Parts: sequence; structure tokens; C-alpha cells
Amino acid sequence: MLKIKTELLIGLGLMVLVLGIAGFTLLIKLRTQNQISTSIISLTDLAKHSQPEDCWVALKGNVYNLSTFISKHPGGAKAIETNCGKDGTEVFETRYGKGPHQAAALLVIAALKVGTLQ
Ligand code: HEM
Repeated sequence: MLKIKTELLIGLGLMVLVLGIAGFTLLIKLRTQNQISTSIISLTDLAKHSQPEDCWVALKGNVYNLSTFISKHPGGAKAIETNCGKDGTEVFETRYGKGPHQAAALLVIAALKVGTLQ
């Protein structure tokens, strides 16, 4: 009886260990892919990513890496390119007089978030 209990405990312990390692590995993977981030980014750091191939844009307090989105933007590449390294909130909300984007626009780029603006 005692032996069965001990084996059960060892089994449970091993299961917890394996799940723990798998969870930790996934966390590291997501962090390195920038799918989750807790970085606080200053305007100075933001300005270092001002090229289309390395394009960070701040929008409503969040910072996104929009390099891969430039060619996909329905309003044309130029609208994003001119905002690389900057806070694009005003342009995003006014579209040069054409009115704000739909609220869902931010969901499209949610996975590209790299941090929060300082
Ligand atoms: C930094 C972020 C963004 C900036 C600065 C920006 C800026 C702009 C500007 C200036 C326009 C007007 C273009 C023109 O007609 O001359 C526009 C249009 C548009 N944008 Fe964005 N945008 C951004 C992100 C997004 C995102 C994430 C989406 C989501 C899909 C989106 C969807 C659209 C759509 C649907 C239009 C209208 C296109 C049309 O009327 O043909 N934008 N954007």
C-alpha cells in the first residue's frame, strides 16, 4: 500500500516537473519572438527604430514593430513608413483629415506589440 502511494507521488512529481519545463520553454519562446513583452520603451529608444526594415511605431501608449505590416497596410506603405521611430497616434486617429481608424485596427497589430511607451 505504502509502495503504491510512493510510486503515485513520484509519478505526480514527474508530471508537474515535465509540465513546468514545457511551460517555461513556451514562455521563453514567446518572449524572444516578441509576442509578449513587458518592455518600457523611451522616445529615445523608439527613435532608434526609424527604418522600414526596423520600424517601431507608438500608438496610444503601446509600441509596435510594424516592419512586416508596412506592405500590408490597407492605406498604403507610406502612411506607416513616415511614422517609423515616432508616436503615430495623431496620424492614426485623424488619417490626415479622413477620420479615425476602426477600433479593430489595433487588434490586427496586437501580436506585433514590443512594449509600452515610457
Ligand atoms: C502606425 C499605424 C498606422 C498609421 C499611422 C496609419 C495611417 C493611415 C493613414 C494616414 C491612412 C489614410 C491613407 C490615405 O488615404 O491617404 C490610413 C488608412 C487606412 N488604414 Fe491605417 N494606419 C495605421 C495602422 C493601421 C492598421 C493597424 C490598420 C488595420 C488593418 C489600418 C487600416 C487602414 C485602413 C482600412 C485604411 C483605409 C484605406 C482606404 O481607404 O483605402 N491602419 N491609415
